[in-house]
Formats: sequence, C-alpha cells, structure tokens
Amino acid sequence: MNEEAGIPALSFHNGKATLLSAGKPFLIFGGECHNSSSSDLDYMRDEVWPRIRRLNLNTLFVPVTWEQLEPEPDRFDFALVEGLIRQAEDERMKLVLLWFGLWKNGISTYVPAWVKADTRTYFRMQDRHGRVLPAISPLCGAGVGRDAAAFARLMAHLRDYDSRRTVLLVQVENEMGLLGDCRDFSEAGETAYAAAIPQEMAAFSGVAGSWHEAFGVEAPELFMTYAYAQATERIASSGKREYPLPLYVNAWLEQFPWTPGSYPVGGPIARHMALWQEFAPSISLLAPDIYLPDFEAVCREYTKRGNPLLIPEARPSMDSASNVFSAFGRFGALGFSPFAIEKLNEESPPPDDAVLGQLNIMAEAFRHYRAGEYLAESYALLGGMAGLLEEYRLTPHLQGFTNSNMPGTLLHFADCDFRIDYLPHGKHSPKGGGLVLELEPDLFVFCGLNFRAQALPGFDDPGTVEILSITEGVYQNDVFVPGRRLNGDEFQLRFGEHPSLCQVRLLRHPRG
Ligand code: DGJ
Repeated sequence: MNEEAGIPALSFHNGKATLLSAGKPFLIFGGECHNSSSSDLDYMRDEVWPRIRRLNLNTLFVPVTWEQLEPEPDRFDFALVEGLIRQAEDERMKLVLLWFGLWKNGISTYVPAWVKADTRTYFRMQDRHGRVLPAISPLCGAGVGRDAAAFARLMAHLRDYDSRRTVLLVQVENEMGLLGDCRDFSEAGETAYAAAIPQEMAAFSGVAGSWHEAFGVEAPELFMTYAYAQATERIASSGKREYPLPLYVNAWLEQFPWTPGSYPVGGPIARHMALWQEFAPSISLLAPDIYLPDFEAVCREYTKRGNPLLIPEARPSMDSASNVFSAFGRFGALGFSPFAIEKLNEESPPPDDAVLGQLNIMAEAFRHYRAGEYLAESYALLGGMAGLLEEYRLTPHLQGFTNSNMPGTLLHFADCDFRIDYLPHGKHSPKGGGLVLELEPDLFVFCGLNFRAQALPGFDDPGTVEILSITEGVYQNDVFVPGRRLNGDEFQLRFGEHPSLCQVRLLRHPRG
C-alpha cells in the first residue's frame, strides 16, 4: 500500500530489501549532523546546510527531540519539524529523522522537563548499590506510554505535513540500553527479574523459570534486551499505526571491555538480533553505528538473519571515504552516513577526550582532517552510478572492499579473479577501498582509491587473461561518460589517493 501511495517503504523480494522513495529504489548517501544542530533552524540554515552542500549527500539524518516536541504535557510544537522539512526541500535533500525520546545513548537527557522532574511517575533505573541512574526504566509503563503517545503525534504530523515525502525513515530512540550496571535493580526491576519469564519469552527460548533459572549468567542481559525490545515495540507500533514509514533502531556496539553495562545493555547488539526481531516486529531493521576500526566485521554481523544494512553513524574521518565502497559494493547497504557531517571539512580538533571516553569511541574515529573532501569524491562517483549499484547490489557481479589492516584481498568473478593490493597511504590520505562491477563478460567498472588491481584467470582456469583497454570516466545518471584512454604509460589498474573510476575490458585466452 505504501509503495502505491508514494510513501517511502522497504520492499522485500527474494530476501533482498530495497528502500523505495516515490516508488523508486533509493540509496542513501547520507550524513548525520551533531546532536544539537537541529534544535535551532537558524543554526541549521547558517552552519549546517552551507557546510554540507559540497559533500554530494542526498540525505541528512537529523534529531527531533521529545523535549522540544512536547514541552508541556499534551502541548505539541511542530515548528522545528516543519522547518527542517522545508529546509531539506529547498536543498533538494531527503531526511531521516532520529526520535530522541526516552533514550539517547542509554540515558534520558532528551525527555521533557516535566517528565524528568516527576521521578515517581517516570521512575529511573538503579544499579546494584541502589544508586539512581540518569535513565528512565524500560519497565516504566507510564514513561513508555507517554513516549509512544508523543511519537504517534509526530508520525501523524509527518503523514499530514510531509506531502512531498521528504522524510524517508525514522529512527526510534538512539543507542538504547542501560549504562552503569548489567540490569535495572530498581524496585520494579527486582520484581520483574525475580518473576517467571513471560510466556512469549519462554516460547522463544525454550526454557522456563525465573530469569536467573532460565538463563544463568546471561539472564541480566536477556532481561534488559527483552524489556527494551518490548518498550520499543510499544513506541514504534503507536507511530506506525499513524504513518507506516520504515522504522529502525541503532546500536552502540558491544566492544572492549565487553561487559554488559559498559556498552548499553539491552540495545540491539548483534548477539541479540534474533530477540529484537522477535519482540520488536514494527522495527524494520537494526542498524550499527560503526566507530570501530574493523568496519567489515561489523557489516558482516549486521547482514545476518535477513537484516538489511543501514549505517546511520559512520566514522567522521577519512576512513569513511573508503568504507563507503565496501558498504555499498560488498554488503548491499541501503545507506551510509558519517556522523558530525557538518564538521567534516574542518581541521577542528575532535571532541574532548573525556566525551569520547565516555562514549567509548577512539579518537582516531573523529579525525576530521580532509574527511569531507574525500567523502564528497566517493559520493560523487557512487551517486552517478546509483541505479547500477541498486541493480547489482547483493549479486556476485558487484564486489566491494576496504582495507581492514590486511595487505589486500581477492575478488572472484564468474570468469576471472582480481587481486587487490592496498597501497601504502600516509596520514593525510584515506586507506584503500573500492568496488568492482561486472557489467557483462569481460567488461568491468573499477572505482575507488589507494589500491592496485591485477586480473587473474580463475583458480581452475588453465588459460590467461590480459587487459584490453582502460578508459577512465564517470557515470552520470548511470551512463558512462568516458574520459582519457589509459593504454600507454598509465596502462595499469592503479587507483591513487583520490577516488576515481574506469571501465576495463579484458581479453581471455584459453590454454593452447
Ligand atoms: C553515538 C551517538 O549515537 C551520537 O548521537 C553521538 O553521541 C556520537 N555517538 C558521538 O558524538
């Protein structure tokens, strides 16, 4: 129904998800702005839009906060949301809205003051020592109910106001989960934890008894995961009833030192995808925020169990200019979006070490230097061939890669292989990354930076293969616009510091 009405939708065919905007496949070449930017339309006009204009984005990820949407109980103010939509329309961009409701990075900083102040009704979680934590409990039915009601109003307003369907997706909450202990030890938490696990959880997991009896050492984490998934389902389904846009949740990933509570326990980490999919069915996908160095390892985890890949937060560093090729080329991502997008072209120092420390993000992830310049070049090349990427994504004809501290990689196609060697890159140039698209037998598109490629016969092919021609160029609306022919001194598959693209014809010789 959505597809017909032109409402953005996720369609699934043969296990492959496609994001549709106005009924057509759409890949998100995005960026997420800083948390506070979208709280002020003037700031957006003066400090955000002008800075991102040259980055070749088609979509901006922007927060919408509960405290600004419902400053007093049942009084709603949609001025900011409307303004953001109008600004995006003027910029000819799409939006993904991030609903900062009950939880933002595990804590409840964006709830309205009247919710924050009423700690009896909207009770908070406690740690094992009885210390009150700055986060409302997912077991707090009153809090979840108010968030769900506000979210429903937001979605109803989008349905009526956003006539051009500028908003593609909505993220429900932000990096949910409890920080500071392994579970909620508040009174409500203690009671629920001691009780028998709910029927549906027993049916899902095939065990019974109290949480501890059923799950032993894993009990606290599963208890919290179930609680957050259930609360999210209540919020998401209320919104979806009003306006059925695709909804997703994002994850603060499990990472060193790997104890539940040092990463937000209960959030949609990869180990608990099955549980999230079961108990939050109104959520269309679980999205990783990838600040960790091994980009592809995370993508691998988040493409399991039929989960479509969307990366709402990627490193705001030069790495993104390389990782984006792997996201679209290898993992068939629906979208990619570095965080702090309005700062990418600045030599500004990364946020305070203390802030990054608290968020468990390594400083290198925030090295903005020249990150915008390179990302813009990668996005320009990929954006020109978006239709081809869409057509071939998740097929053996399209393969992507990014340097994850390996010397290179090997790509297998039906009739030949390519050996990829990453080139050494200095501190001021991105690591190697790229993609290869097989358009027809012996005709390939190469695109990327800081790597060298060599064509090889397939493993068991006794013949040989040579390069017939290399033509550099770009794609515009999926049509190849040729540039120089590189069959002299430049006759090599070598991609330098700046992202570039070429078409390559091969000649294969059978043995003998
Ligand atoms: C992840 C969060 O989701 C973002 O809102 C932001 O806090 C970044 N971390 C770090 O600045």
